[in-house]
Amino acid sequence: MKIVSVVGARPEFIQSAPVSRALRKRHQEILVHTGQHYDYLMSQTFFDELGIPAPDYNLEVGSGSHASQTAEILVRFEEVLLKEKPDCVIVRGDTNSTLAGALAASKLHIPTVHIEAGERSFDRRMPEEINRLVADRLASAFFCVSQTAVRHLAAEGVTKNVYWVGDVMLDANLANRPLARRKSTILSTLGLAPASYGLVTVHRAANTDDPARLANIVAALSQVGETVVFPVHPRTRGALGKLDVRFGGNIRLIEPLGYFDMMVLEENARIIATDSGGVQREAYFMQRPCLTLRDETEWTETVEAGWNKLVGVDVETIVREWKTFTPPAEQPPIFGDGKAGEKIAEILGNMTLSIN
Ligand code: UD1
Ligand code: UDP
Repeated sequence: MKIVSVVGARPEFIQSAPVSRALRKRHQEILVHTGQHYDYLMSQTFFDELGIPAPDYNLEVGSGSHASQTAEILVRFEEVLLKEKPDCVIVRGDTNSTLAGALAASKLHIPTVHIEAGERSFDRRMPEEINRLVADRLASAFFCVSQTAVRHLAAEGVTKNVYWVGDVMLDANLANRPLARRKSTILSTLGLAPASYGLVTVHRAANTDDPARLANIVAALSQVGETVVFPVHPRTRGALGKLDVRFGGNIRLIEPLGYFDMMVLEENARIIATDSGGVQREAYFMQRPCLTLRDETEWTETVEAGWNKLVGVDVETIVREWKTFTPPAEQPPIFGDGKAGEKIAEILGNMTLSIN
């Protein structure tokens, strides 16, 4: 089968590594980078560390409003599809690259395959919710990370070609953890002892575009009484710069990290606080307590299992939970067995895809 895979943002590069490896054993894959993320530390570093094949096309769309970024991808990606005429297009997750990839393919009657299908926050003010709703409405095959996602699709009447394969982020995590431990020197570079710090990431529009929410997060982190390592997403860098708030001396703002350094910092953190979907799941893979700086999450099973706590942005709640939150000893295997990429490649090989 000739497959065009679309990637554009940081988590999509990471997830594409195990999928590309598996696909290329059985199928022809053409990799298209939309250029949504473009800084070295947001893009190329992941290709280098994870050995992801160089993209066959880079659409170089860069940043912009939702409409302009999505529209640019649509225009440029359509040209690729007209030239390559693939049997299907794979999109992943919920970014503007996902939305535009699914839409361009569907208009050309090319079946779309959605990896990480069926996730829902049930909050349509969240741009990602719109992207994933549309991608799932257009897709012909659905690979789900969790059983909850399968249930969400069923509730929307989608049951054909729906597969629970687990999380390709777990594939990447398991495959790279030993290498990350060998290669990363981040703990000594930052002078950190294991379990002596908390790790924080923030990049959601709801938190970065609302100064009051972001100020609450900074105020809370300043009061936790422990070193806070905070690799700053470029979107957050600008927003933090504009805040009129005192940063506690315990907060260490650093550049975005490569994947290996991030894994080692996650694995050795005493606690993780984040609004990232990927980092919530990785906290679970690494068996680290996670506080989610949002009012809802797609990854509800991690909350039900007692390993993730929704704390929103209330200062007192964050500080209290940072000091007291303790997950149980057990962890159910929510995210599969780390072989999602292989399963996807195999199922696709045995599947007849059609656009209806
Ligand atoms: C995007 C996704 C989000 C995902 C996140 C992963 C959408 C709507 N959002 O959010 O779902 O969780 O990626 O990180 O697709 N910027 C740079 N350099 C870069 C990339 C971005 O400076 O390499 C800055 C630009 O100012 C840009 C801003 O970050 O306007 C936001 O980037 P964008 O790709 O629009 O959205 P993210 O917040 O990264
Ligand atoms: N990540 C990274 N360096 C960082 C922050 C995150 O390598 O400085 C990785 C993280 O380990 C996870 C992925 O990026 O694998 C998550 O991406 P992000 O938080 O940007 O997006 P989301 O998962 O929320 O869509």
